[in-house]
Amino acid sequence: MFSFKKKEKIEIPLQIPRHIGIIMDGNGRWAKKRMQPRIFGHKSGMETLQNVTIAAKELGVQVLTVYAFSTENWSRPEKEVSFIMNLPVEFYDRYVPELHRNNVKIQMIGDTERLPKATYEALCKAEELTQLNTGLILNFALNYGGRAEIIQAVKMIAQDVLDAKFSPGEIDEEMIANYLQTSNLPRLLRDPDLVIRTSGELRLSNFLPWQSAYSELYFTDTLWPDFDEKALKAAIKEYSKRNRRFGGV
Ligand code: FPP
Repeated sequence: MFSFKKKEKIEIPLQIPRHIGIIMDGNGRWAKKRMQPRIFGHKSGMETLQNVTIAAKELGVQVLTVYAFSTENWSRPEKEVSFIMNLPVEFYDRYVPELHRNNVKIQMIGDTERLPKATYEALCKAEELTQLNTGLILNFALNYGGRAEIIQAVKMIAQDVLDAKFSPGEIDEEMIANYLQTSNLPRLLRDPDLVIRTSGELRLSNFLPWQSAYSELYFTDTLWPDFDEKALKAAIKEYSKRNRRFGGV
């Protein structure tokens, strides 16, 4: 007699990326689908960020770098820009206390000193409050542009060569990494293992161009406000199947 054995599904063990970069895209379209103004999408996107941060922390992710505002985003309508600029202020009052309780450490990269004063101050307060936390690092990329970051690093390196601190021949990858803004992260956690972009766009848009040289890329059609713990796990599941060779065999 034949016995029909149920096919066993082989579960791949989840490999948790140590550093995840997220391009949080699709807030505007999410709002439009609901016949709401774009800012409604950004507000909802902020709540998503809170939930995803806690979920990532629980999964054991060590760094989350989130693209919250690019150097190119200033060209948006003034009302939208000023709404986005107020989000860190609201974020500090409404969400940072819970993140602090969860041992999350908040940091930022980008040309943040050129942000409106209240925005910058809210971020500084969040950094200060959480500076001794030892859990997940939530690294905000705000007024960030990858090429601008590289230009800034090149200028500082050139100046240090002029000041005879080292010779051009000594410049290597490690040194360049030390001059980039992500040098605010622990040395082995500066490059994202995985970069996620929501909303179906298939590009990196000037997000961590140096640091993502070997990152696994994951694109999903899900709009950022709809991204949740389940979607994060799906991205990590896909990442777990990838075979990272870093140029080797
Ligand atoms: C891109 O969607 C999203 C942004 C430019 C803003 C992202 C900001 C947040 C998710 C909130 C972050 C929270 C803090 C505290 C700063 P889009 O507007 O380009 O959407 P669209 O492509 O559908 O128009």
